[in-house]
Amino acid sequence: MTTALGIDVGGSGIKGSTVDLRSGQMLHERVRIPTPCPATPTAVIETIGEIVDQIAMQFGPCDTMGCAFPGVVRAGVVHNATNVDDSWVGVNGRDLLISRFGKKVCLINDADAAGLAEMQFGAGREFRQQGVVLMLTFGTGIGSALFVDGQLSPNLELGELELDGYIAEQRAAGRFFEDGELTLAQWTKRVQRYLSHVDSLVWPDLIIFGGGISGESKKFLHELQTRAKLVPADFRGHAGIIGAALALEASALP
Ligand code: BGC
Repeated sequence: MTTALGIDVGGSGIKGSTVDLRSGQMLHERVRIPTPCPATPTAVIETIGEIVDQIAMQFGPCDTMGCAFPGVVRAGVVHNATNVDDSWVGVNGRDLLISRFGKKVCLINDADAAGLAEMQFGAGREFRQQGVVLMLTFGTGIGSALFVDGQLSPNLELGELELDGYIAEQRAAGRFFEDGELTLAQWTKRVQRYLSHVDSLVWPDLIIFGGGISGESKKFLHELQTRAKLVPADFRGHAGIIGAALALEASALP
């Protein structure tokens, strides 16, 4: 198998592309459709179906698919749904995907997927054999993924940390700057507080700053101070798509 479809379900958009599994490159422009509202299992699966059909028509079909999901996923079952409809909780999303698409599929947390892409082909590749890497994604929420000597410890939920009396992602998620609720300086200050806290809890060697906003990292990354080395994600907002496609072959899936 040399290609697979990667789908990334986000709070505002569902995105997909065919991915070359040997290089981690997307083989065409990503296809994006806004996340349905409410984002129930049926509605999300239908939107994924539209993306799969569009890609098949324009770029040819693919018989393997990985899907990144914005919540905890264990053995295909969704356990929280902060960024999609509550009716996802307890649902076996992998089974839904299999019965709808009949493909070889997997379902994985979105930050874990982004981390897989960065560890294999991106900013974390030098730490694939040794070291502690923390992948953080700043978007609708804050996603986190931890790799120890290249092994993923799945479903780490560091966006849910309580900090200064708030759930951290409800203060420092990327959307607060992207939606214009905070200025860059205000948002960066909150991110700094969060990063310092997480850095002192986890003690990683490397922190990879990801999410769509990492495409603008030149504007703010130099302002952030961390003990660990801090670098932007190589695949920016596309890491979730790429990692989802890679996930079926990754050994450490929950
Ligand atoms: C969820 C995480 C997810 C992150 C990014 C958080 O609200 O709890 O599982 O990775 O958002 O989408």
